[in-house]
Amino acid sequence: MACTLTLDASPPALRSINTTLDRDAFKKTIPVLAVRVPAASTGSLLKSDVMKKSLMDLPKLRSVLRDPHDDHASISQRTTTRFSDAPIRKPAALSPEVHNFLREQSATLVTHNVNLTYDYWTADEILHSILPEELCEGSPSGFAITGHLAHMNLNKEYLPYKHIIGQIILDENSIDTKYRFFQMELLAGEPNYIVEHHESNCRFTFDFTQVYWNSRLHTEHDRLVQLFQPTDVIADVFAGVGPFAIPAAKRGCAVFANDLNPESARYLTKNIVDNKVRHSFVASLVRASCEDGRDFIKRVVARAIDHPFPVYTGPKLSKMQEKEQKRRSKLAKSPLATEVALVDHFTAVKSSPRQAISHFVMNLPDSAIDFLDCFRGIFSGGASARDLGGIYANMPMVHCHCFTRELQPDKAEADIRQRVEGKLGHKLDEAVTLHMVRSVAPNKDMYCISFRLPRDVAFAQ
Ligand SMILES: C[S@@+](CC[C@H](N)C(=O)[O-])C[C@H]1O[C@@H](n2cnc3c(N)ncnc32)[C@H](O)[C@@H]1O
Repeated sequence: MACTLTLDASPPALRSINTTLDRDAFKKTIPVLAVRVPAASTGSLLKSDVMKKSLMDLPKLRSVLRDPHDDHASISQRTTTRFSDAPIRKPAALSPEVHNFLREQSATLVTHNVNLTYDYWTADEILHSILPEELCEGSPSGFAITGHLAHMNLNKEYLPYKHIIGQIILDENSIDTKYRFFQMELLAGEPNYIVEHHESNCRFTFDFTQVYWNSRLHTEHDRLVQLFQPTDVIADVFAGVGPFAIPAAKRGCAVFANDLNPESARYLTKNIVDNKVRHSFVASLVRASCEDGRDFIKRVVARAIDHPFPVYTGPKLSKMQEKEQKRRSKLAKSPLATEVALVDHFTAVKSSPRQAISHFVMNLPDSAIDFLDCFRGIFSGGASARDLGGIYANMPMVHCHCFTRELQPDKAEADIRQRVEGKLGHKLDEAVTLHMVRSVAPNKDMYCISFRLPRDVAFAQ
C-alpha cells in the first residue's frame, strides 16, 4: 500500500476549462518499472509475499498485461507485470529478496508506460481537477434519477460550471459502473444471458448483462442470513436480485429489498414470486423497491411503521404437515378446532405486527460507507410524531460491506472504523464485528463491518 499511495494517478489540473469539456485534454502517462515473465509464472508472482508490497494496484487497472511483443496465441506467451513506479523507479531500489525471487522466475525488468485517459477517473476526481480550488470541497456529485432524467441541485457558486458538471456526471454514471454489472463478450454459444441459478435453496433468474451477480459471495450471503432471527425485519439497501433478501424471507424474516437498477428490481420481483416467499396468499414477505439507497434508508423506517409486516407464525408447513395438522384437529373431536386455529392465527397476525427494522444490509462495497450519513436522524425526521423510542427498544444492526487496502487485520479494522465513524459523525462502541469477506486484489480486501446503530445518530435532530 505504501507504494501505491505515492503513485500520483490523479487527473491533470485543468482549471481554465469552464464551459466545454475537452475530454482529450485528460491524458496522463506514468512510467513504471515492470517485469516480463513467462505466462505460467504469473500466478506464483502475484501470490508471492515477497512481491505483494511491490505490485502496482490502481483502481480499474490490471497489474498484469499480455506482452505485445510476444506471440499472443502460444502457450509460452509471456506477460508483463507492472510494479509501482515510486519509490521503486530504478531496479536498484528493489530489495534483494525481490531480485532473488525474480531470478528464480526467469523474469526480466523493463519499463512500461501506464496511459490514463478521461474515462479512468471518477466524476469527483474530474470535477476536482477543473473547478477552482475553493469550490472543490463539497463539489456536487449527488443526483436523483427519474426515468431517463437526472436531476441535481446546484449552489449559486457552481452555476457558471453547470454545463460542464452535467456532462461529467452524465459521462461517469454510465449504467454499468453504477449498477455494478459486468460488460461481457460472448466467446461461443447463443447470445442468451438470462440464467437460472440456485443458491441457498432458492431459485434466482436474472439477465447477467443487466444486473449484478457474484457467485463468490454465496458464503457471505449465507453468513448474514444465518445471523437473522425468523422474526426479524430486514432492510436490504442494495439488494440486487435478492441473494440476501429471498433466503432471509425463506427463514421467515420480513424484508424490504431495494435496488436502484430497474432491471435488478424487476428480476427481484420475479424471484420473490418464483420462490413463493409469501406470508399468506396475498402478503409477500419481501417488498421490492427501486430507489436510490439514500432515499430508501430515509423512508424505510416510516414504511415499516405505516405498513407493518404480519407477525411471524412459525416455520412454513409443508403440504404433508398441513394435512397432519388438520387430521390432529379432527382427532381432537372438536368440529371447530381447525377454524379456531385459523381465527387465532389471523388475530395474532393482526395484533402483533412487525414494525421495527432489526438489520440493515448494505452490500455496495465501493461506496456503502458513503451512505451512512443518511442514518442521522432517521428516527427523528418524518416519523417524529411517533413513539419510536418504544418501537426501537433495540436499535437495528447495520452490516456494511466495504473495501480496504490495509491488509493487516488490525490496520484494516482501524481504517474501516475510522471511515464509518467519520460518516456517522459518532464513535462506535466496542460491540463491533469485522468480518473479512474475501480478497479482491493483491492489495485490496472486502470486509463487512457490523455494528448497532448508535441511538444518538438515529435520533439526531
Ligand atoms: C455489489 S451489488 C450487491 C447486490 C446483492 N446484494 C448481492 O449481494 O449480490 C450492489 C447493488 O447495488 C445497486 N446500486 C448501486 N448504486 C445504488 C444506489 N445508489 N442505490 C441503490 N442501489 C444501488 C446495484 O444495482 C447492485 O445491484
